[in-house]
Amino acid sequence: MDDVLAFVEQNAILFEEMLCELLRIPSISADPDRAADVRRAADWLAGQFASMGLSVRQIETCGHPLVYAETPGVPGQPVVLVYGHYDVQPVGSLDEWHSPPFEPTRRDGNVYARGATDDKGQMLTHVLSVLAWLRVRGRLPLQVKFLIEGEEEIGSRGLEELLKTEQGRKLLACDVVVVSDTSQYGPGQPAITYGLRGIAFFELVVRGPRQDLHSGTFGGTVANPIVALCQLLAAVKDAQGRVQLPGFYDAVRPLAPREEEQLARLPFSEEEYRAKLGVPALVGEAGYSTLLRRWARPTFDVHGIWGGEQVSKTVIPAWAGAKFSFRLVPDQDPEAIAQAAERFFRERCPPGVELKLRYGHGAPAVVVPLDSPWMAAAERAIAQGFGRPPVFIREGGSIPIVVHFRQQLAVDTLLLGWGLDDDRAHGPNEKLHLADFHRGIRASAYLWHE
Ligand code: BES
Ligand code: ZN
Repeated sequence: MDDVLAFVEQNAILFEEMLCELLRIPSISADPDRAADVRRAADWLAGQFASMGLSVRQIETCGHPLVYAETPGVPGQPVVLVYGHYDVQPVGSLDEWHSPPFEPTRRDGNVYARGATDDKGQMLTHVLSVLAWLRVRGRLPLQVKFLIEGEEEIGSRGLEELLKTEQGRKLLACDVVVVSDTSQYGPGQPAITYGLRGIAFFELVVRGPRQDLHSGTFGGTVANPIVALCQLLAAVKDAQGRVQLPGFYDAVRPLAPREEEQLARLPFSEEEYRAKLGVPALVGEAGYSTLLRRWARPTFDVHGIWGGEQVSKTVIPAWAGAKFSFRLVPDQDPEAIAQAAERFFRERCPPGVELKLRYGHGAPAVVVPLDSPWMAAAERAIAQGFGRPPVFIREGGSIPIVVHFRQQLAVDTLLLGWGLDDDRAHGPNEKLHLADFHRGIRASAYLWHE
């Protein structure tokens, strides 16, 4: 491996430049005005794969395009599918960014930009390790297929459709999937994630009067949609942090005592965690440790709420809206949760308003078996690439397509995250630690060998 690793080291600056090129493209999948930029990111990747000598295809979907590329098959050796995403989340308020989100900026060993960790930087590590192998050795010891999508942050609908077709399944047939879109356990402590939470995502609109009304003239006679919406959302959890939808916990599979013990052995300081997040106290479902509540218990959160006036105008607004989601654990079914949510809100709809609940997208949770030869290979590769063996963790986020890989391709996914919890994915000042970017490339290069 010395020759491949030497190449990786010699090209560190070039690799960072390539990452910055991709980070400059504002490929925000949720923003229709950015569709051309999303496509530009796909084109950039396709060009990259082509220049590495891979056979490349851009696959059109109902939404943003998929980029597919493969190295030649190697008889008798496994086929690995590398999945990642080139789309990014919206940037939020620009005032909060210390440098513009699409002008990648190096500061104290990090690169700051939207998508640096989620997922352009992490995804690229596999592209660059393959580039290194091909430049140095001319071939890989196995076949690598790349599938990089542009809709992960909005639910992966196009890819889900592809996986439902015979043709798509044939194209993506593999022995194992590799995804780097998660985090290490902490700085200097790499991890393999064996469980992700699922999600059920919703939009709720509450409508009152036909138009905004003067609250002096009409206040006290009609319902206020903002108040009604707040009452509805506040009813979802009780004071103990338990979700109140009937049947919500019915399918929750309890943690095996062995797993609970193993998670309890991970070093974790509640106080450090609290201080890092800048909250006065940690809160959540009673009776469960913080790590369990993050990784292995379902929950409910509101992401945004709209309505009424920002300036001081005394109105009863015509409507109010909110976006929220439930994070799910094995074996909760997002469709069943969607039905329970519909009933829950309908039954509680206060008089004087009407509501409309829209179920956006959903995905069940995943747990990956720990005792496969793929896991063992990944463990060795990370130990070599990072200089320290990984710990095995779950994470609270969701990568919806992983479940479909299991169902449609009958394969497991290795979740090898190079990020850090404080990379600020989805928030302002997202970053990636450049040392982790390079260690990720090294670990990936070892992975093909292992
Ligand atoms: N990289 C994340 C998934 C993730 C987040 C894994 C945190 C582990 C910890 C991914 O890009 C993501 O943000 N997914 C969305 C999916 C949703 C929009 C369907 C998520 O989890 O909110
Ligand atoms: Zn994300």
